[in-house]
Amino acid sequence: MKTVITYGTFDLFHEGHYRLLQRAKALGDYLIVGVTTDNFDLERGKMNTCNNVMERVEAVRNTGLADKIVLEEYKGQKIDDIQKYKVDVFTVGSDWAGYFDYLKEYCEVVYLPRTEGISSTQLREQRPIVRIGIIGTGSIAKRFVPESRCVNSIDVVSVYNPDAQEAVRFCKRFEIDNCAASVDDLLSRCDAVYIASPHYTHFDYARQALLAGKHVLCETPLVFKECQAAELFEIASKSNLVLMAGLKTAFCPAFGHLVSMVKSGVIGEVVEVNASTTTLTDESSEKMDASRYGGSMSENACFPLVPILKLLGTDYEDITFYSKMKAGTDIFTKAVLRYKQAIASFQVGLGVKTEGSMTIAGTKGYVYVPAPWWKTDYFEVRFENQSDNKKVFYSFAGEGLRYEIKEFVSAILAQSSHYSKVSIKEHLIMARIQEMYFRGENVYKI
Ligand code: CTP
Repeated sequence: MKTVITYGTFDLFHEGHYRLLQRAKALGDYLIVGVTTDNFDLERGKMNTCNNVMERVEAVRNTGLADKIVLEEYKGQKIDDIQKYKVDVFTVGSDWAGYFDYLKEYCEVVYLPRTEGISSTQLREQRPIVRIGIIGTGSIAKRFVPESRCVNSIDVVSVYNPDAQEAVRFCKRFEIDNCAASVDDLLSRCDAVYIASPHYTHFDYARQALLAGKHVLCETPLVFKECQAAELFEIASKSNLVLMAGLKTAFCPAFGHLVSMVKSGVIGEVVEVNASTTTLTDESSEKMDASRYGGSMSENACFPLVPILKLLGTDYEDITFYSKMKAGTDIFTKAVLRYKQAIASFQVGLGVKTEGSMTIAGTKGYVYVPAPWWKTDYFEVRFENQSDNKKVFYSFAGEGLRYEIKEFVSAILAQSSHYSKVSIKEHLIMARIQEMYFRGENVYKI
């Protein structure tokens, strides 16, 4: 039996892909198709794919041409696959001519003529542009605009800030055409909004935007009450709108890899997750204003909650908070979540600095993610026997916001077939934890 293997992203599956697979199949008896994972594409700088890996695998499967589909997850995997599956022929399109000659050491390499006049890039360019309006022009919005320019199919068209002069300065600096006179004005000009205003305003703006039929990407924390989060997701789902919180960590490639590795059992059963996120902040900042949901919990707690909820689930038994207060604001909070079989804790601070690392302890080993773990680009999997240790490197491009922006735009363009990296349940739990904290439930203050 002659085994053939080919690889691709197969985004927006098209005629060129189909013809390539047909001819690849004809080169032998058994065709293996490698489909790149979303993380691998992000890692190698391919930011613009429109379909997620599940959709791309499905498209290849639907051709009926592949006898086996594998996921391509890392550089160098081709050699491993060729040896593992005893491959006789490696083939790809002629756009790669010469590039894979190094594989001739392992099998025959065939470059098939590319189908002229069609490509995923071309199809992506024909896709509609998502027009974004930004509400709020603070430091995160200033990072958002350059990051959005690294992502396809999105254009920032308008900006709103109640302080009109600020908005004008922002538009000038980032060459944005329109400075909206009101939120309604902004909403009338866009398909989606990015909410980067002070935390306490999130719910009202998000609700207004969703009711106006606009998709919403809202900075964290999304809201401070579980019922508010539930209301927003209900409006979004009824109107088939995308509602996402700006949790950049959840969307970056290394973090995704870390979660799948740990879930696959490499460190055994997870018994403890501990993560710290502290950002020293000026006391005069509105982030410190307790009367408006300022403080460490509000500012930073959602970040460590992402790995905790992803790895240990949403069914914790109880949570206790210990806060160091200054002028009514928690400048540092440590929280402990008790699960049936595990413990999680996190430290957040605006007025206290800690090591910003994360450790995930298991029955067979542990994962160490150095500071700043929330911009994960490197982590280590460590064992009792140090020679088993693994170091995992990924790139973390720019400010990292591009990953969540890409996910947001893909979700809007993919409509119903989208799956989200952070579930509604996880969002509801994050809001519930904020609500408990601000109600003072299980909060010990020093
Ligand atoms: N392919 C082809 N003819 C085309 C487009 C792609 O034969 N018109 C082949 C590629 O050479 C590759 C496989 O299909 O072997 C998967 O290619 P992929 O990179 O996923 O598709 P492209 O359309 O080339 O994507 P992009 O525009 O993002 O580079």
